[in-house]
Amino acid sequence: MSVVQATPEAISRAARALARGDIVAFPTETVYGLGANAVEGRAVARVFAAKERPRFNPLIVHVLGIDEANTYAVVNDTARKLAEAFWPGPLSLVLKKRPGCGIADLVSAGLDTIALRAPAHAVARAMLVEAQVPIAAPSANRSGRVSPTTAAHVEAELGDIPALILDGGPSPLGLESTVVSLVGPEPILLRLGALPREAIETLLGKKLAQAKRDGPIASPGQLASHYAPDTKLRLEATGVSPDEALLAFGPRVPKGAIATINLSASGDLPEAAARLFCALRELDQSGAKTIAVMPIPNRGLGEAINDRLQRAACGVPAISASAQSE
Ligand code: TXA
Ligand code: MG
Repeated sequence: MSVVQATPEAISRAARALARGDIVAFPTETVYGLGANAVEGRAVARVFAAKERPRFNPLIVHVLGIDEANTYAVVNDTARKLAEAFWPGPLSLVLKKRPGCGIADLVSAGLDTIALRAPAHAVARAMLVEAQVPIAAPSANRSGRVSPTTAAHVEAELGDIPALILDGGPSPLGLESTVVSLVGPEPILLRLGALPREAIETLLGKKLAQAKRDGPIASPGQLASHYAPDTKLRLEATGVSPDEALLAFGPRVPKGAIATINLSASGDLPEAAARLFCALRELDQSGAKTIAVMPIPNRGLGEAINDRLQRAACGVPAISASAQSE
């Protein structure tokens, strides 16, 4: 049993495990991460092995803040502006990596860029302080599966593969970080996430260009088939049949489903985001033929929620030679 309450002692144990090259699952405000010391190529390799993730999907490196980020990557003016406004928090910045910065090449899967994020969760921060190393951490799920938002989800996904699973309660935001690339002439939104696009656009005073889902893969997080439960999803459902489970939203919910979970009875999008992955997992266990999903307004966090639902609706990715998912 590798789940332990995130007490100060357990956090110290996790930090020591990381420093010796073990992998540790830990809570962040977005989702649970599977962490490795980012300067140890062998530790990072164990993360890829645990997730069964294709090697060329790069990982996010977790740091305490801008100063640390600047030792590994070139924090340009736009990056500084965004980090000052949104760090610590659910925003990952893809920046030019500093050559010889010590981060294992495997982290960026051979790219000359690196994704950095300063998490806000107190447990993640305490672990970073104690470990004194940058922590490369993807979401702590097997590749292509729904991201875990509780320690129990991590255990269901990865069993005792991590040396330790720190339990810090449910992730408050419940959606992965928003990923923005700042390596080109204009910022590009690589992945919709827990920081709404509008917040970034307001700060920068311009619209964000978005990586095309069907275009060349700028970020593997853009692959269409992602975050997939085993059960098929039927989107934009206005009714439900008796062999279906229902993922509901809002006050008016059709009756008659095998199982129903309402993401937010009051129609609150942050509440819906926080419950999304947990609800998908639960309805996946209901034995229903399909999960009917009620329409979710496509504004604010609704945009990221709909993005995840559309990817989940594409089904579990077939294992092939190409990159599949994160
Ligand atoms: O909220 C989160 O971001 C969580 C928690 C644990 O921090 N982490 C997470 O990591 O979702 P992961 O590995 O599942 O997703 C990382 C995303 C992927 O879409 C990946 O392609 C993109 O970040 N990414 C990482 N490094 C990149 C790079 N150098 N260039 C472009 N995209 C990159
Ligand atoms: Mg992931």
